[in-house]
Amino acid sequence: MAENRTRQAMIQTLGCQMNVYDSERMIAMLLEMGYTLTDSPWKADLVIVNTCAIREKAEQKVFSSVGRLCGIKRRRPGMRIAVAGCVAQQQAQKIADRFAGVNLILGTRVIHRLPAHIRALENGENRIVDVEMPDDRTAEPLGRDAETAIVPHGQNIQSGGVSRYVTIMRGCDNFCAYCVVPYVRGREASRPPERIVSEVKELVAAGAREVTLLGQNVNSYGKKEGLCSFAGLLERVSKVEGLERIRFVTSHPKDLSDELVAAFGAVDKLCNHIHLPLQSGANPVLKRMNRKYTRESYMERIEKLRSVRPDIAVTTDFIVGFPGERREDFEMTLDLLSKVEFDTLFAFAYSDRPQAPARRFDGKVDPAEKHARLRELLDCQEQITRRIYERLVGRTMNVLVEGVSKHGRNTEGADMQEPVEMSGRSPENRIVNFEVPPGAGMQASEALIGKIIPVVIDRACANSLKGKMPANGSAVRDTNKGGKIHAA
Ligand code: 5AD
Ligand code: SF4
Repeated sequence: MAENRTRQAMIQTLGCQMNVYDSERMIAMLLEMGYTLTDSPWKADLVIVNTCAIREKAEQKVFSSVGRLCGIKRRRPGMRIAVAGCVAQQQAQKIADRFAGVNLILGTRVIHRLPAHIRALENGENRIVDVEMPDDRTAEPLGRDAETAIVPHGQNIQSGGVSRYVTIMRGCDNFCAYCVVPYVRGREASRPPERIVSEVKELVAAGAREVTLLGQNVNSYGKKEGLCSFAGLLERVSKVEGLERIRFVTSHPKDLSDELVAAFGAVDKLCNHIHLPLQSGANPVLKRMNRKYTRESYMERIEKLRSVRPDIAVTTDFIVGFPGERREDFEMTLDLLSKVEFDTLFAFAYSDRPQAPARRFDGKVDPAEKHARLRELLDCQEQITRRIYERLVGRTMNVLVEGVSKHGRNTEGADMQEPVEMSGRSPENRIVNFEVPPGAGMQASEALIGKIIPVVIDRACANSLKGKMPANGSAVRDTNKGGKIHAA
């Protein structure tokens, strides 16, 4: 009887896009095993927490989440709990010691063994710890190559199936002094271009219009293996019919080649956006971080990019309060903010990570000072984003529609004349919420999902733009050649 009941699984995904992608691979395996998905731990037979170790806070979140699940398990003893991802890789022992309720601890390089481990649990094993880091010859084939189909439309955890991630490489060889990634994700390895292209084709066939190519340092794609360059890969991916937009994350500023800059001029489908983590605007700090570029060389790269795409949006990451960061170093960071004019940024207070060399560095910055600097940086950026966004009012942007906006009206039983608010992204990766002309109704509005349509911007908000579909713009455009803003 129990066997005949459909088993339900829940996946909680913490952390970066890489984890979102890995979770989707796990979902595909679970569906193939006959599981259905649920978002309630009170219904799930199996809960997987896919974890992030990048900062101390992220790791704390993992421990509190697993603790909460173990509490639920005390009332539902049949439930199984698995912990996967970077914290599982790095803190397997700690998790095993602390949480008797955890049944499976699965490392970052052995995800393909999930079905076998679940079967073993179902056959009576109580605990499996598998955090092996096989070397590149024996490691799991990257991406979905070894496994099943992609996650079907509607069951993926990304933006309504319109915009999907594709891993092109894993691991990292850069060893930035603060970073845990090389220790939890291992050495860099790239996936063959043919595999990437065929996965993109499958995703497009399932409804994707945009793909984001994922890697810790996409610019060094293929170098080790002697595959094509990253620019060459972009070219190949861009030939996939039906694919409208290509994005990628993350680029390392030291490896942003002239060839890649040129690709922004040559590849129409490449979106008008680059995420280029700067981390600090002060050369001595960059040196201690082992970043291998200077503020000057970073600026020079940005200038080159803007000579090819004058309106490219640049976003970045900063760490504040890195060991030894003085007030004057921090001011150099603030100074670069207005010089580069980042569209938006992510900023983090430095935290020590196990294994990362900076944990032993002198000159740790007082936590109160770190947080004060973080606040100052975010306030300063808020003004810049507002300025950039206000300049966009009145312009028309091509928006790839992803779904009903967070504040979209629920038209159930409501007046059909009520406008519906939909949400999508511009080529610059700006969130654009827009009203569909009154009377269109929910069905017609939902039919816009996956289409690229012109939207006239009429308001700048803190983290998004608001606009309207022009009255004559109901003629939906399906292509986004150039991914560039069309000035109104
Ligand atoms: N402390 C704070 N921020 C960190 N990041 C990476 N490691 C740390 C750390 N130890 C930030 C960097 C990176 C982003 C993903 O997380 O800014 O680009
Ligand atoms: Fe971490 Fe540096 Fe590699 Fe990025 S490039 S993943 S910050 S080690």
